[in-house]
Amino acid sequence: MIEWTPALSTGNELLDEQHKAIFRWLAELDSAAAQERTLFGAYAITRLKNYTRSHFAAEEALLKATGYPGLEEHMAEHETFRARLAELHLKSIGEDISADTVKFLTDWLTNHIARSDMAYAPYLKKPR
Ligand SMILES: [Fe+2]
Ligand SMILES: [Fe+2]
Repeated sequence: MIEWTPALSTGNELLDEQHKAIFRWLAELDSAAAQERTLFGAYAITRLKNYTRSHFAAEEALLKATGYPGLEEHMAEHETFRARLAELHLKSIGEDISADTVKFLTDWLTNHIARSDMAYAPYLKKPR
């Protein structure tokens, strides 16, 4: 079962809501892949891609505004994933989403939130 858990909370309501939505699209993608629903799979990965891109942009803007010292490294991680997701999205036009693809996306996003996003959490709570 692919779902957001409170252990992944950054303490920022807006970013948590965006992370939850990302997990909802991952779950949709997972069920599309499991049922070999090609069209829905392509739709779900499109939504995941667009949603992830707008989330990354919102997160980067917020981190920039707070003066987060790890911003550059964080943006580089986002960029790597953005490129990978764009490739997988393109691939989904010609073939079904594989279980490996879903696993890669889920693992990457979970690890990124658990480690890299969690690292900025204390900075967002600091009074400015
Ligand atoms: Fe991030
Ligand atoms: Fe994030």
